[in-house]
Amino acid sequence: MTELSPSLSGMRLLLGVSGGIAAYKSAELVRRARQAGAEVRVVMTAAAEHFVGSATFQALSGNPVRSALWDPAAEAAMGHIELARWATQVLVAPASADFLARYAAGMADDLLTTVLLASAAPVAVAPAMNQQMWAHPATAGNLQRLRQRGVSVLGPAAGEQACGDVGLGRMLEPEELVDALIAQQAGDRLRGLRIVVSAGPTFEDLDPVRFIGNRSSGRMGFAIAEQAALMGAQTVLVAGPTALPTPPGVQRLNVRSAEEMLRAVLDQIDAADVYVGAAAVADYRPVAPRSNKIKKAAEAIELKLIRNPDILATIAEREQRPFLVGFAAETEDVLRYARGKLEAKKLDLIAANQVGLPGSGFDSSDNEITLIWADGEMALPRASKRELARALLEQVAERMPTRDNND
Ligand code: PMT
Repeated sequence: MTELSPSLSGMRLLLGVSGGIAAYKSAELVRRARQAGAEVRVVMTAAAEHFVGSATFQALSGNPVRSALWDPAAEAAMGHIELARWATQVLVAPASADFLARYAAGMADDLLTTVLLASAAPVAVAPAMNQQMWAHPATAGNLQRLRQRGVSVLGPAAGEQACGDVGLGRMLEPEELVDALIAQQAGDRLRGLRIVVSAGPTFEDLDPVRFIGNRSSGRMGFAIAEQAALMGAQTVLVAGPTALPTPPGVQRLNVRSAEEMLRAVLDQIDAADVYVGAAAVADYRPVAPRSNKIKKAAEAIELKLIRNPDILATIAEREQRPFLVGFAAETEDVLRYARGKLEAKKLDLIAANQVGLPGSGFDSSDNEITLIWADGEMALPRASKRELARALLEQVAERMPTRDNND
């Protein structure tokens, strides 16, 4: 079984911590980043020190923590210019509204902003603030300026806030931030590619109130779309019915039935380089859905179903076809059935997905898959759907025919 290796190996991460209650989560972020293989140094703003002590970051990072620009001892050792040159990636988490304003304005009035001005490393910020502050046009303007300068903005998430408000402004969880860094480090491996991903279940209506559905939550497909966008692909997500939020940078098209999903995918497919079919598409639909609610009268009723079109197989028949990735959800003899589907549907790659085990497959945050292609396979151990999505996309990048890259 292939180990999912620490994916931040070689990264020298400069973590900037600005003032906000989310600063306590940054301690966990340091731990996870190191676990993933990064070397970490922390720079705190003066405001951050009101929330977390520098000793915590020092212990977790294994390196001295810097906060003052005018610290003769520190400047004699690793000065701010050396620190700026040392970093291969900068992440500011939490990035407060005040920090974003100062950074957007190009200020250099403390160590963190000075290091940022002096560094050529890619920079990501993870905003965290009250939802009203997040919605303020001043903050939106600052973020727009930063985005135009190539800064990646990770989050924020929506939810309940420390001040009691509910809305956008929560810092992403440490795990999500590390995943985003990993995807960025994986590089722009999919830059210039257009990827279409299908996700979630399809609902096949019996009447205006009832449908045939399945247990797919959409999490696997949404994770693939999220990671594809982070890896630089222009990403379209064709989503069956699910309440999951749209991943940042992803264009989402909502559909309900298998036929709607087919139409939406075909609309996108001419321009696509890759299609990943992660959706659990209903194989059958009612022959004649009723326009009125079916009444409870007879003791038994018969339901006549008809085969749905197969989206993957339809695309595979096209003369100009994208690189095709399927999933095979099976409860037994998983690898044999999956290889059968790889061949029958003429796919380039298939993810054999054992379902029916607790904590994996449908509607869980983890999964366990084996990637299978014509002359090989790779078993990926149980991991988060995000991690597996990334590993799958790395294989796609590896196995796609090389293109003339004139774009
Ligand atoms: O959504 P989650 O809760 O995160 O769960 C993830 C998952 C288990 C749904 C997902 O990982 C998965 O395995 N998806 C495929 C499920 C499935 O329906 O497999 P299948 O063996 O029936 O279909 C094989 C492949 O053909 C799939 O890529 C499917 O999208 C595609 N297909 C199937 C039927 C159809 N009419 N058209 C298709 O394109």
